[in-house]
Amino acid sequence: MSAVVYRAPMINPRGANLYDAWIDGGLRVRDGRIEALGDFDAVMRVGEAHDRVETLEGVIVPGFADVHIHWVQHPVRGAFEEALMPWLREHIWPEETRYADQDFARAAAQRFFADTVRAGTVMGMSYSSAHAEAVRIADQARVGDWMVGDVVMEHGAPEALTRASVHEAVELDRRASGLGTERYVVSPRFALNCSPRLMAELGVYARVGGFHVQTHLSESPGEIREVLREFPDAEDYTDVYDRAGLLGPRSVLGHCVHLSPREWAVLRARGSWIAHCPSSNEALDSGRMDLEAVRRHGIPYALASDVGAGPSHSLLHVMQRYLDAHRAAGVAVSAVEALYRATLAGAECMGRDAVAGNLDAGKRADFVLLPAPGGQLDVEGWIGEWTRGGMAELEGRPLATWIAGARHDPPAAPPRTASA
Ligand code: GUN
Ligand code: ZN
Repeated sequence: MSAVVYRAPMINPRGANLYDAWIDGGLRVRDGRIEALGDFDAVMRVGEAHDRVETLEGVIVPGFADVHIHWVQHPVRGAFEEALMPWLREHIWPEETRYADQDFARAAAQRFFADTVRAGTVMGMSYSSAHAEAVRIADQARVGDWMVGDVVMEHGAPEALTRASVHEAVELDRRASGLGTERYVVSPRFALNCSPRLMAELGVYARVGGFHVQTHLSESPGEIREVLREFPDAEDYTDVYDRAGLLGPRSVLGHCVHLSPREWAVLRARGSWIAHCPSSNEALDSGRMDLEAVRRHGIPYALASDVGAGPSHSLLHVMQRYLDAHRAAGVAVSAVEALYRATLAGAECMGRDAVAGNLDAGKRADFVLLPAPGGQLDVEGWIGEWTRGGMAELEGRPLATWIAGARHDPPAAPPRTASA
């Protein structure tokens, strides 16, 4: 099988403020894997005579990873409410109830993955509804490398969404979906939907089985007040999960907006990840995550859209809100770091960085083509430009997305119908 060498300017993030870039880049791909990258001429020198060259009009960057998104909320993304708790009650519980209907779920899953791949997202971690079958449907419709988990809820939501025992909630679901540790993520929705006993059982289940865990932590002041009322023995919100054994290096905690120094220290000690959701935090007026504290404590984090609280599944939009939110608070953050947090950091969070997340040789050929701003190589300026301009989902989306070397073009415009 001969290789293809894609020729275009190229940016390869390698760390928070670390990258390689080439104005005349070459990316050699064979059988869905990256074989070599670098300056085009240098890549051609080590290649074979019959390598096919494809010159692309745009800039090659890695495909995006979204480590906290609710695929079942995609149809109602951006629904407005002044805070988390009323938003859940008014918009989310009714919407997620609909996923008991498998035809509805199948159509919604197809739309979700068509939209995310069009926005350049090639991998991620998603919450499903409470229905085991919807997890399987999402996995079958998946475009790219995704982990999915049914939200486990015992109480605090309509009866149609709540279940009683771990046996029902996880064991059966996983068997039903047959996903395994690569694809299934244990997802207690948040402390207000779960008893200590259920969370502890889920903690054991995840540790013994080697599963990732995802949940929501310290998102909004109203939620935190309710958690402290419901768990009076806990030191704080983080302690509720820590006591349950839910915090480890494979745990991914959405939001973490209002944590105390003690809580940051616990996250650091457990090696847990933060899914940082700046556009969602802004939309529900949840507050700004204390990025300075995250940095001080050395807690790993990746960016996430948190659709449907986040209004757009575009990581370019999330990067824009990330840069704006922290810069407005006087915190220095580079566009280069935003790209890292939306790509390689997500793969690290998912435990996939050996095979995905950037353009290193040996990795899966997942990449996107972004519009070339022209002029000299200006990595910081170019990334900034891609993230600017209103809803990046609409205005800054990739020209094309490749997953494992296969191009996923946006669907053609529907044929025009002749007017009568
Ligand atoms: N907390 C509990 N459930 C949810 C959810 O679906 N979205 C967000 N943003 N926060 C939550
Ligand atoms: Zn969420």
